[in-house]
Amino acid sequence: MNQSRDHWSSNAGLVLAATGSAIGLGNLWKFPFITWENQGGAFVLVYLICIAAVGLPIMLAELLIGRRSQKSAVGALTEAMRGTRFGGLVGGWGVVAGFILLSYYTVIAGWSLYYFWQTIGWAFTGFPPGLSAGDLFNEQVGNAGLQLMLSLGFSLGTIAVVYFGVSRGIERIARIFLPILFGILVLMLISALGMSGSGEALGFIFRPNFGELPREGILEALGHSFFTLSLGMGAMVTYGSYISRKQSIVKAGGAIVALDTIIALLATVIMFSVIFSVAGMREEVGGSTVGMLFISLPELFFTEVPFGNILGPLFYVLVALAALTSTISLLEVVSAYVIDEHGISRQKATVGAGAAIFVFTIFAALSFTGTPFLSTMEIFADKAGWFSTADHFVSNWMLPTGGFAITIAAGWMMTRRATREELLDGNEPRWFNYGVWRFFIRWLAPVAVASIIIAVILGTDFS
Ligand code: PFF
Repeated sequence: MNQSRDHWSSNAGLVLAATGSAIGLGNLWKFPFITWENQGGAFVLVYLICIAAVGLPIMLAELLIGRRSQKSAVGALTEAMRGTRFGGLVGGWGVVAGFILLSYYTVIAGWSLYYFWQTIGWAFTGFPPGLSAGDLFNEQVGNAGLQLMLSLGFSLGTIAVVYFGVSRGIERIARIFLPILFGILVLMLISALGMSGSGEALGFIFRPNFGELPREGILEALGHSFFTLSLGMGAMVTYGSYISRKQSIVKAGGAIVALDTIIALLATVIMFSVIFSVAGMREEVGGSTVGMLFISLPELFFTEVPFGNILGPLFYVLVALAALTSTISLLEVVSAYVIDEHGISRQKATVGAGAAIFVFTIFAALSFTGTPFLSTMEIFADKAGWFSTADHFVSNWMLPTGGFAITIAAGWMMTRRATREELLDGNEPRWFNYGVWRFFIRWLAPVAVASIIIAVILGTDFS
């Protein structure tokens, strides 16, 4: 093992950092919305099956590829794919995906800072009477200066953490932030369960009715399991490369997947309890992804939620923290590649990569401001603007193809002995069965992921 490589100081450090990567806007923003769009219960059940049958096996595959090589995405996949150039391309594809995803993810993360600031103000003054939450949202996304400041703030925060490296930066922040995040969620859950809509919300989320599940819902659940677990682009390969031989990949992977899933479900219970408690709100939440998190909820905190004055700002801190631990992992994918493959110091690599990515963040941030070209360009049908184009390309094309390549690398190209040694490392938990994992990674996962890719080619949209 490469002794000079920075490592997680313990299993808990790894689990917290990787869970921090997994828990993000995908859990708090995308999952509740797609659960809503797909009519709840049956979709949630299908999602849980996708997470267990496809997400978990690929999570273990990524972590083991990383630990085996002790290298970041490009080096690790080159090794996993027997030194072929194709392996390097797959790793490079992941680095590019991380680059693009970070460039626009930062913009939404910036919105959480804005709403944190607003809700702090409203905690003292109350929600301004006559203010339209929809207009406020449109005003903030349309304000170029504000958007640039918010995304710049978030980018600097991300760079500052990654700059200090794996154990002193990423792990330390995760150790502090994740417990705070869990604490805030529990407080919100207690408050939400006391609201009149909570029973209906629980029924909507957990009572499956397959008659109501749209057909594309199955593929959407599968596609989202990649995004939410940070799979398909080398993030978990990179984090895996900092795991020492004393730690169990299976235990860590199982914990990361379980925590990510629990948080997504909790967030959904909280949001739906609030929304179902207010007459007419269901219709209002309607058709936009941003609607729930940034338009409906801010006002409801101050008009409906018990202790909303405190919980409102706390909620947006939660969104910001969850987003930050994800942006950190995205920047780490790119920085680790530059450090490992080009021999540049961590400090220079992080600042350089962060600055290069920020140039593209500017394009994404200006996508909503009516800026010519950036707001109007259309490469994919119905995806106008830079932001939507980038999101569509990453979610629909890059993550599934990257995930497919990872199943081939771990299932077909690495030897049985190599993957077995990594997974049965002497610390593995009793529930784990290597043969089952191998079957899933060789057959089930590639077929499932290939079906997403085919659906995308035929025109399904996951972004
Ligand atoms: N898993 C993150 C979320 O659910 O918001 C998104 C993400 C982060 C995807 C990091 C990929 C990644 F490398």
